[in-house]
Amino acid sequence: MKTELLTIPCVAGHEEEIAHAAALLREGALVALPTETVYGLGADALNGAAVAGIYEAKGRPSDNPLIIHVPNDLSWLSRYCRDVPELAWRLAERFWPGPLTMILRRDPCVPDRTTGGLDTVGVRCPDHPVTEAIIRAAGHPIAAPSANTSGRPSCTTAAEVLEDVGGKIAAVVDGGPCAVGVESTILDLTVTPPRLLRPGGMPLEDLRAVCGEIDLDPAVLRLMGEGERPRAPGMKYRHYAPHAPVTVVTGDPDRTAAYIAARADGKTGVICFEEYRERFPWSVVVSLGPVSDKGEQARHVFSDLRFFDQTGVQQIFAQCPDPDGLGFAVANRLKKAAGFHVIELEGEGP
Ligand code: TXA
Ligand code: MG
Repeated sequence: MKTELLTIPCVAGHEEEIAHAAALLREGALVALPTETVYGLGADALNGAAVAGIYEAKGRPSDNPLIIHVPNDLSWLSRYCRDVPELAWRLAERFWPGPLTMILRRDPCVPDRTTGGLDTVGVRCPDHPVTEAIIRAAGHPIAAPSANTSGRPSCTTAAEVLEDVGGKIAAVVDGGPCAVGVESTILDLTVTPPRLLRPGGMPLEDLRAVCGEIDLDPAVLRLMGEGERPRAPGMKYRHYAPHAPVTVVTGDPDRTAAYIAARADGKTGVICFEEYRERFPWSVVVSLGPVSDKGEQARHVFSDLRFFDQTGVQQIFAQCPDPDGLGFAVANRLKKAAGFHVIELEGEGP
């Protein structure tokens, strides 16, 4: 199949391409869409056959449910969810559009294919005007996992989407690089207190300011053992991993840099903070961004992980941000890429 590339930088002046993308989705085709977090691989969420195509194009296990994307209009929440708690309305009012996915009871009109047979559904309103316009024109919610091949790092540019699923889907909408760079934060609102299933682009601190207490699902912090079932089925899979094994080193950046420098040779890839670039002269180095700029780190983490697959490195070390704010999501993605192979250095200074 030839994948059409639709370049749609903004809504104004691109009404025809937007209508075309929406028509493809209505016909049951797969269209990759930009969001503020990462690119999504979209299909009509109410069309089971179209949704089945997503699993095939990504090579995604069929028990891993999809989240649905809706426009910034609260009435869509009542259309596709049941028993929506008061807190969900408050969160939607406060944080839509934005990088928050809420797990709620599903309405039976959402097919099993979309929810992986669960009686809940993840709902989010992406903060990208082009994609919002496409969803409105399609008239149905759009199911969209991250557009990467299953197991690879997520895609934050249209070029990366083409690399992974080009030739397998009808079209890719190029709406520019993603502004946030890590996927949405997933909050399960079917339990009390609400439970964080995946840290993401919406910092936990911001959610706690509205929700109060939030539990952390164990899959957020560690590798699940045999037989353990994380509440977000996708969290049990090996994820984001480059071909070479990754080791994450946490702690004071001066110390983590020294630790890595002592072990980094010509066959080593290093993901480091911008300030430490020069410390690994023999190795293949990519910057995560400055120590204090977690927004920049979030925008880089996936392309950094992807980068090493074009090189011959045999091991990868990564410096890791502290878990405040967006650092929680960045650290989580690095640790997942490492299969939670983490070296924790205590104390300060080298
Ligand atoms: O930012 C994002 O959320 C991106 C963009 C495209 O919107 N999408 C995304 O989708 O990251 P995906 O499929 O790559 O990750 C969604 C995660 C998976 O781990 C899945 O298991 C979990 O959400 N999930 C989906 N529906 C769920 C449900 N009903 N209950 C629990 N977990 C669910
Ligand atoms: Mg994904």
